[in-house]
Amino acid sequence: MCGIVAVIGSRDAAPLLIEGLKQLEYRGYDSAGLATVDPRPESFGGLLTCKRAKGKLVNLMQLVEKEGSPGQLGIGHTRWATHGKPEVRNAHPHRDSSGGVAVVQNGIIENYTSLRKQLELEGIRFTSETDTEVVPHLIARELKSLKKQTKNSISSSMLLEAVRTVSSQLKGAYALAVIWEEAPDALIVARRHAPLLIGLGEGEFLCASDTPALAGFTRTILPMEDGEVALLTPLGIELYDSEGQRQQRSPSLLNGVENVANKRHFRHFMLKEIHEQPETARLWVDRHLPAGLPAEAPVALPFDEPFYEDIERIQILACGTSRHAGMVGAYLLEQFAGIPTSVFYASEFRYSAPPLAPKTLTIGVTQSGETADTLAALAMEDKRRKEHGGSAYASRQLGITNRPESSIARQVPHILDIGAGIEVGVAATKTFLGQLLAFYGLALTFATRRRSRSLEEIISLTRELRDLPNQLSNLVDEHDQLAETLANRFSDTQNMIFLGRGINYPIALEGALKLKEISYIHAEGYPAGEMKHGPIALLERRVPVVSIVMPGVVYEKVLSNAQEAKARDAQLIGVAPKCLETEIFDTLMPMPKVSEWISPLLSVIPMQLLSYHIAANRGLDIDQPRNLAKSVTVE
Ligand code: F6R
Repeated sequence: MCGIVAVIGSRDAAPLLIEGLKQLEYRGYDSAGLATVDPRPESFGGLLTCKRAKGKLVNLMQLVEKEGSPGQLGIGHTRWATHGKPEVRNAHPHRDSSGGVAVVQNGIIENYTSLRKQLELEGIRFTSETDTEVVPHLIARELKSLKKQTKNSISSSMLLEAVRTVSSQLKGAYALAVIWEEAPDALIVARRHAPLLIGLGEGEFLCASDTPALAGFTRTILPMEDGEVALLTPLGIELYDSEGQRQQRSPSLLNGVENVANKRHFRHFMLKEIHEQPETARLWVDRHLPAGLPAEAPVALPFDEPFYEDIERIQILACGTSRHAGMVGAYLLEQFAGIPTSVFYASEFRYSAPPLAPKTLTIGVTQSGETADTLAALAMEDKRRKEHGGSAYASRQLGITNRPESSIARQVPHILDIGAGIEVGVAATKTFLGQLLAFYGLALTFATRRRSRSLEEIISLTRELRDLPNQLSNLVDEHDQLAETLANRFSDTQNMIFLGRGINYPIALEGALKLKEISYIHAEGYPAGEMKHGPIALLERRVPVVSIVMPGVVYEKVLSNAQEAKARDAQLIGVAPKCLETEIFDTLMPMPKVSEWISPLLSVIPMQLLSYHIAANRGLDIDQPRNLAKSVTVE
């Protein structure tokens, strides 16, 4: 949520900031702003200019083009509103009363109310409703007192000192970038529980919340650790930990981060990313199911033997679409691999976790690797296990993510990188598929090690997974056209129901979530057998029902549930292989005949494409739906 960039060097800062912000707009698009400092050759210090605009980045770009924002030092921000409406006055950067100190922030300052009251008592007038505005005022107050102590001799380390002091007064999770017009050669950045990376260029540095903003600038990066504060000048970096100890760390190389702002020939990133799924699957198969491994152990996962030893249960923590992937994962881990598995909303787990069970593997699933609730739930679980002590209760954690350089990778000891490439569309599609595949890899591995499945079953699932890229390729093309023709019929729909059972129940939930988030149509996903216990009362002619009916243990049952809906006049859309029984559907989205195990990897495709085309038909902003952001770094 919210993206920040900051730059110091010898080139004009504003264009670099705008380029960086373009790559971060997926984190929020309620408003955007930047501030730059232009050194004044005739006197000490510089002149701070600040430009802010409501709405998308393009509005800020027009403003900067018209009015300019000079200087080689600057900070920028793209906002997802938490405190205060999306208005210019609430847009970042925020400044102190003199206008000389400017701050951008990503996160939430939890104790801002008491800090604001205190500052107001001291006579400070606030101009926004944000939590962030306390920060420039506190820094300015600190600078004033430091200036007094040093009899007005100004230095870049004075700003560092002020930010460090103020950071210690802030509660919450945040990343900050700060500039001060009296120190035009100093940029201060700080992070606590929110991501921030420093990119090292030649004689210049660019900091950002996420790697895509750095990729076009440099490949050499220094991810900041929690609690660190850095002073950047054109000459170098001074990095300090939360205790004020100077840190020396070698930078790392940024690999495989493409320029994300390229839609190719697709109308939207979401459609491009749906079409990238056969490739996501192909890469996964090549990497984890390579030919040549023994049939009884066909999967190559990046963990050694001890990782799998004596695990008696698994718990999965995630939010939104990632949680739906976790639900499919739980089904596979329980039903295929025979390990009792529970799935939790991370936001619930962190405050009401079940009693500790021994020999438990905890899996956090997060495509961004930055979801605050998921990270906090994992941290809480780790802490309570460490406090409990005893080897049976030891903390064992694994993260499934698309961003191996993100915060989750620094928090948990094992990472399964789904390698789907950066996803820009706010609605998760290819990363969902990647997360599912990660669970197939785990389930196959556990099943082979525990011998919970016969060799024939292992070979059969492996074969189907190897064939998945081809299956997906045909399906995506066919359903793209089909969904486009169907969408017209459902564009004015007010309510839609998605039904599934067993391993496809999470896909019904995912179908409903996709439709809600991008088309703003109310939708519900239900286990098909639950309809008769209440929700069936909603059904009538105007309510389309999408029923996922894939071969398997519940095939006849879901068909009967679909018949019950038809008897209530609902318009029935079937996601099922074509056959005599599926003639009951008003519309069929035909599926290949595959095993029940593998079916979610395919049945999700019509869900994604139907939602996409309905939203496109309604003329909506599919890649940046209202009120949402790609990376949810607030609680
Ligand atoms: C829906 C969607 C969200 C995310 C959720 C968790 O399309 O993308 O529901 O799945 O915000 O995000 P991550 O996976 O980054 O933890």
